[in-house]
Amino acid sequence: METKYLQFNSADLSLAGELIRQGELVAFPTETVYGLGANALDVRAVSSTYVAKGRPSDNPLIVHVWDKSQIYEIAREVSADAEKIVDQVMPASLTVVLPKRDTISDVITAGLDTVAIRMPSSVQAREFLRYAQVPVTAPSANLSGRPSPTSWQRVRDDMDGRVAAILCGEDCNVGIESTVLDLSGAHPLILRPGVVTAQQIEQVLGKSVEVVTNPKSKVNSPGVRYRHYAPKVPMALDLSGDVAKLTAYYDGLVKQGFTPVLLVEQPQSYGNRNVYPIGSTDEQVAQALFENLRILEEKYDYIVASFTSNTAFGQSILNRLVRAAGNNII
Ligand code: TXA
Ligand code: MG
Repeated sequence: METKYLQFNSADLSLAGELIRQGELVAFPTETVYGLGANALDVRAVSSTYVAKGRPSDNPLIVHVWDKSQIYEIAREVSADAEKIVDQVMPASLTVVLPKRDTISDVITAGLDTVAIRMPSSVQAREFLRYAQVPVTAPSANLSGRPSPTSWQRVRDDMDGRVAAILCGEDCNVGIESTVLDLSGAHPLILRPGVVTAQQIEQVLGKSVEVVTNPKSKVNSPGVRYRHYAPKVPMALDLSGDVAKLTAYYDGLVKQGFTPVLLVEQPQSYGNRNVYPIGSTDEQVAQALFENLRILEEKYDYIVASFTSNTAFGQSILNRLVRAAGNNII
């Protein structure tokens, strides 16, 4: 199929909305990463998302809305905690998991009795969703397993010819996917960490929130051996920032015949080796992370990343880095 490249003007937004209602796929910007949108009320459209991405169908999708009232049409039950989050936190880079209504297909939820709902903070995302007039399922708009796209050009790299249209909006300013907060059980759980932290949720709810995805404990867990966010070349991850250690590792790779690159916090410390700045604040690191992996995989054949932040947001970034490196922690 020939993919249309659409702009943020009312004619193109109208067309994007029409395409969604006709059951076509439209990629669109959000503040976290670009999403691959489909009409959540059209099972055939939703199913085609899995095909376009090459995504396993046992991984459920997030339903995106532009207006809070839609949440009540999608969720069967909005608990007092959920209401606080909806009222006080949304729109945000946050997805809430709530019990689903029967109108939400098993194809979206992979057979679960719950549904993930997100109201993005990006104005462009909400504008597109408003033109769509229906709730929109959207996974990240990358081929399954690849780093998530944070610009429309990266969506084009993966999805040209596979989707009806790509809305050419702004680059994403958060850069990693939304926090997934499960409010469907007895205790609030963060299933995927993001820029909205457990502490922020705890302040709103006045109770503790458990983070299930602790990247440090997952390093040794057998369940996370699959690669996600992976560049095309091998990648190693260091958590110490130790210049001597990284230098020795790099030099060892060179001896083996690799052309590696160090993606590090202090690129100036590595002499004339191949270096690339990972960023000096959590915000910078997150915003550029997936783009950096896509840039470096084209020029080098081994990426050695180093990241040391211990903040809550830093832990969310680390979660992506550990997966991108396929748990190859040095
Ligand atoms: O920032 C984001 O969330 C982006 C943008 C496009 O909004 N979307 C995104 O979608 O990251 P995706 O499909 O790449 O990730 C969806 C995550 C997966 O980890 C999935 O397992 C989880 O949400 N999820 C979806 N429905 C769920 C449910 N009912 N229960 C638990 N987890 C769920
Ligand atoms: Mg994804």
